[in-house]
Amino acid sequence: MVETLTGTNRSAGISVQELLAHDTRPVPEYLSREAPLPPGPTLVPVERYFSRAFQERENEQLWKHVWQMACHEDDIPNVGDYMPYEIADLSFLIVRSAPDEFHAFRNACLHRGRRLKERPGKQTHELRCPFHAWAWHLDGTLKEIPCQWDFPYVDPAEQNLPEVPLGRWGRFLFINPDPNAEPFEEFLGDFPVNFELLPYENRHKVAEVRKVLRCNWKVAQDAFAESWHVFSTHPQVVWGFGDCNAQFDAFGNYSRQHNPAGAPSPHLEGVDWTPLPPSPDGRPRERHAFTGAIYERRDDGNVDVTMPNGRHGVFTQEAVWVEGELGHADLHLCQWVAGPQVAAPLAMPAPEDEPAANGAAPDGGELYAQIGENGDAAPETREERVRATAAVRAKAAQGVREAMRPLLGDVVDRVCDSELTGNIYFNLFPNLMPSSAFGPMAIWFRFRPNGNDPEECIMEAICIAPTPEGTTPPPAPPVHVLDPDDSWTEAEELGGLAMVMDQDTGNMPWVQRGVRSLESGVLQLADYNEAKLRHFYLLLEEYLEREW
Ligand code: FES
Ligand SMILES: [Fe+2]
Repeated sequence: MVETLTGTNRSAGISVQELLAHDTRPVPEYLSREAPLPPGPTLVPVERYFSRAFQERENEQLWKHVWQMACHEDDIPNVGDYMPYEIADLSFLIVRSAPDEFHAFRNACLHRGRRLKERPGKQTHELRCPFHAWAWHLDGTLKEIPCQWDFPYVDPAEQNLPEVPLGRWGRFLFINPDPNAEPFEEFLGDFPVNFELLPYENRHKVAEVRKVLRCNWKVAQDAFAESWHVFSTHPQVVWGFGDCNAQFDAFGNYSRQHNPAGAPSPHLEGVDWTPLPPSPDGRPRERHAFTGAIYERRDDGNVDVTMPNGRHGVFTQEAVWVEGELGHADLHLCQWVAGPQVAAPLAMPAPEDEPAANGAAPDGGELYAQIGENGDAAPETREERVRATAAVRAKAAQGVREAMRPLLGDVVDRVCDSELTGNIYFNLFPNLMPSSAFGPMAIWFRFRPNGNDPEECIMEAICIAPTPEGTTPPPAPPVHVLDPDDSWTEAEELGGLAMVMDQDTGNMPWVQRGVRSLESGVLQLADYNEAKLRHFYLLLEEYLEREW
């Protein structure tokens, strides 16, 4: 039923490279290049996810020495705006000191150490500590020390706020707590080349959604750094989402994942499928690709599950059996149809007043639907299947091109189908996942430890939209903070991705608990499909071992 052995070290499914060869536009070199990580260490000790000692090591060896994204220029749009950035038990204050000038300070008063600012603020003319009112200018130079006569041993010339290195890329502000940090541009390497046609300098931040998750930050990040969990965790998208046939590349401090969007999952090879008509009364329903069972939401909030042979059962959203002869159901599809819904579950969101184009992956299901409806023969040879898939992608890409043309201009004609429709995600070490999406919205992810608790993390989804030429980006709205038990669907900004994220984050507390019971004491990573994870752990190892 699912792909197991292919006889090679790659999936037998349609590859990204085959689809690039059928793109209707020239494919840029940065996209067509391949840089697979050599097979190598794949075992990760489980202590890394719950040990306080390991978390301490990360704090000392990683967070105190690595470049990390602190905030976006749109978070602090005016002179005098400031934003605290917390990482583990450290806090920094990012300040806009002039229209195009930023500083990053250690967020602690030089008198008795009070945090200078505990939350973001606007248009201040000085940085004054709320405790005894020591004050600094926006550039960190000392302004005044009240009762300075009482500090005869303090030399005011040595009381400027200690600054940490700050780097700028794509209108994001990065900091490095290490005063001797390598130059930011060297750390980035050729990362910016991947965004040549639609640079992040021409985009603005429209939303940020934040939530505490009950798992280590690496458990959360790892779940978004591979896509072969899709056939199991997101079975509703397998018709149009290449999962285990994605391409993974590693370059310096970043890695890249490119999903062959529009290509069916290779696990579907040999699976018969006819499109499932929508429910007449609009209730959520799905067919499981592998079992053929139909999942449909009931009035009482539970799920009717009916197998192709008619066997039926009723299950809760958590796939707990309620009644019926069928005893078992798929957890993720129960969650998908019985969980909180959004209007268009598979569409990407678009900011207000901007094209409501669906910049999401082309619906490969469409290809299968045509075959089903027209009685067309399914493409038989591999070449026919590649061409048919490329055609679905080209059509979807043209839709995005036309929808985005008013905003981006004719540059859209130079953007290849793959960049317009592919799911292309990067991991910029250690904790940022930028996307190169060309649609109305790109969504990035960031993962951080939640203070000093190794079993909790903070996850953020950051939404970025193209900025119409000649306009000034609006200030970013305040961060939308969800409670740990809230569904991501509470954040309408995320559109349909929220339901997918609910499926993803639903696994995480169970990974966090599960790893403690592993007898071997290690996780086992896949050589190719988990190459982004392996790349991350190799770099992490380097930081942990380095003498700073
Ligand atoms: S702690 Fe800041 S002025 Fe006293
Ligand atoms: Fe996922």
